[in-house]
Amino acid sequence: MNAPRRALNISVLRFNPRDPDSTPRLQTYGLEEADGMTLFIALNEIREKQDPSLQFDFVCRAGICGSCAMLINGKPGLACRTLTKLLGPEITLAPLPGFELIADLSVNTGKWMRAMSERLRTWVHATERDLDLRRMEEPMDPDLAERIYELDRCIECGCCFAACGTARMRPDFVGAVGLNKIARFRLDPRDSRSDDEWYEIVGSDDGIFGCMSLLGCHDVCPKSLPLQIQIAFIRRRMAAMGLS
Ligand code: SF4
Ligand code: F3S
Ligand code: FES
Repeated sequence: MNAPRRALNISVLRFNPRDPDSTPRLQTYGLEEADGMTLFIALNEIREKQDPSLQFDFVCRAGICGSCAMLINGKPGLACRTLTKLLGPEITLAPLPGFELIADLSVNTGKWMRAMSERLRTWVHATERDLDLRRMEEPMDPDLAERIYELDRCIECGCCFAACGTARMRPDFVGAVGLNKIARFRLDPRDSRSDDEWYEIVGSDDGIFGCMSLLGCHDVCPKSLPLQIQIAFIRRRMAAMGLS
């Protein structure tokens, strides 16, 4: 005989900053858990059957686009990769802190990510000589390519930034997502930037020296990126530069 299905209560922090009549409030929705239910499925069911006004973001439903990140019982995570059976019957959802709130669970991580990427100039900087296509297309050592690929797995979900105490105090802090990008471009032999140039970009309290090694970022990254190792690598490099 099948076990009876659980009754879930999902409480969502609701607020629309563009609506003058809206005030922040928790709204609770009851629903029956289904086999293999994720928070993505649960939220869609709520929107379809109970409340079409509920706002949240999803694109890929497969942990790839990073758009469904939210606070799940107070901890940043991806709604599409979170099974309700791993949570208790009372679930609280809130928008990711640190980003512009659009409404309810929808935040504008893209705007913040773009500004951070522009500040860190997260693209390959090649010299004119390197722009010779034959040089750019030289095969890369497979182990190095693998290490770069590992860091490129970041989906810019914002979970690391939302979990970071420094980010709450310093709005211009680049966060673990930014520090991971720096580590990625430091590894890339096609990038011609010197240590001095990197120091200018990231050797400040909004960069590597703002990080207090709180490691919330490392604990919540849904792609399990080695953030702790990357941050230590950049800090050693930049600290040596600062002393030299
Ligand atoms: Fe998300 Fe991890 Fe990238 Fe941070 S480093 S944005 S937690 S994938
Ligand atoms: Fe924040 Fe991670 Fe540093 S949580 S303080 S970026 S180790
Ligand atoms: Fe794309 Fe969840 S919907 S990561």
